Amino acid sequence: MLDDFLILIGRFHPLIIHLPIGFIVLGILIEFNSKKFKWSNDALKFIFFWATITGILSIISGFLQYQNGGYIWETVQNHFLAGILTVVLSFSFYLKLIENSLFKPVPRNFFTIGNSVILLIAGHLGGNITHGEEHLIEPLKNLASFNKVQSKSVKYYSDFKEKPLFSSVIQPILDEKCVKCHNSKKSNGKLKMHNSNELIKGGRNGSIINFEFPEMSEMYIRIHLPKEEKKHMPPKGGKQLTREEINVVSNWIKNGSSFEKSVNEFKLDESIISYFFSIEKPFYPIENVSTPDIETIKKIREKNILVNPISKSSNFFSVSSLNYSKFSDIDLSIMSSIRENIVNLDLSESKVTDSVFFNLKYFSNLTVLKLNNTNILGQNIDELSQLKNLKRIYLVNTRFDVQNIEKIIQIKGLEKVYLFQEDRILKAPLKLPNNYEEILEFGNYSLNNSMQNKKS
Ligand code: HEC
Repeated sequence: MLDDFLILIGRFHPLIIHLPIGFIVLGILIEFNSKKFKWSNDALKFIFFWATITGILSIISGFLQYQNGGYIWETVQNHFLAGILTVVLSFSFYLKLIENSLFKPVPRNFFTIGNSVILLIAGHLGGNITHGEEHLIEPLKNLASFNKVQSKSVKYYSDFKEKPLFSSVIQPILDEKCVKCHNSKKSNGKLKMHNSNELIKGGRNGSIINFEFPEMSEMYIRIHLPKEEKKHMPPKGGKQLTREEINVVSNWIKNGSSFEKSVNEFKLDESIISYFFSIEKPFYPIENVSTPDIETIKKIREKNILVNPISKSSNFFSVSSLNYSKFSDIDLSIMSSIRENIVNLDLSESKVTDSVFFNLKYFSNLTVLKLNNTNILGQNIDELSQLKNLKRIYLVNTRFDVQNIEKIIQIKGLEKVYLFQEDRILKAPLKLPNNYEEILEFGNYSLNNSMQNKKS
């Protein structure tokens, strides 16, 4: 009961603080116009008396807010001190006004200017606590960069499925909902949760993870206790775990609280996965690129090379040399000034050789590369390993050497490599890592095999 009452008072802090602010601002205004108002001294006495009283109420409510709202002392201490200083200043000014001998020698301006400054500081620090440190700077930053495309920090499932569930999902939840009370500076219950080592160490009552009987884990029990229970975590009044967060943390604990086991291996429900991750990754890069140079595009088109934006307002382009069969390695240089704009490049049926890869590695947004019906062996194809967006490579009917599969494997992020050859059968010469069985497309295997069987 009393707890709830104190929490309630704490919650009123953002409202209560406006009382002393109002009094002080009014007082300062009157003081600056004191020559105009004959009554100013009487009014100021009244005003700074009440500024002091409401200031004290603000400090009390602020302290309750700190205690129950899960704030770290380090973040609130300066605001707290500034608040106290504001009240002290208001009260000393009141004492001066009622002609207390102690404050006689202090000039009046000291109080008014001091009060203005400290009020601004206290208010700003308070704003930082509720809205984050950047709450004033952020809109300025946004203004400065309003025409840049903001890339959101979306987590794509495909990027995380092989990574540990703990570092990808669990620790971020703890960071958001638990760490403010359980860290190296403020460790309630002597428990720290800001990294896995501390988490394993546990708190005042020892380990909070029971590897033998997971459901007996203190951590598991606490998040499942009814919210009204005193031991429920996060404590009532603080930001609670969502249903999905409870689900995934429970799942993690029940399955052995592994710090290595990957997201994949937990076999989470579809709904849980889609709560934490974005499933569909956009095919083309999300970052924006500058508008390509029109002159360059004209020059390329003069060579009968097709250059077209991938969609109406996009700065990303598809380029194809199909109508210019003489296209060779050196021709790539006419594209160098727009290479960041090219996401689809079709050099099929051209004269390019394996040295083309030394140049292609600078096409940083390249997503689809077609080299069908060329003499490519795949010798330097590992040069492309620095291309983060490269998803598909077409090497159909080339002179591709299977030994170079090892080099393809070094290109991360590939979704498909088409290696079908009409005149011969390609097969990986080595054991393929993980999902490369699916990425490398050798064509219709079974058909080829059965035909071979018939022949022999
Ligand atoms: C608002 C501050 C606050 C937040 C947020 C918070 N806790 Fe706590 N936690 C406490 C306090 C205070 C204690 C000590 C009192 C107690 O044992 O209930 C505690 C104790 C614990 C304990 C018992 C430690 C021991 O050995 O006795 C566990 C486990 C725990 N918290 C887990 C969590 C988890 C998990 C989260 C996030 C989902 C969390 N806490 C978020 C304040 C918090």
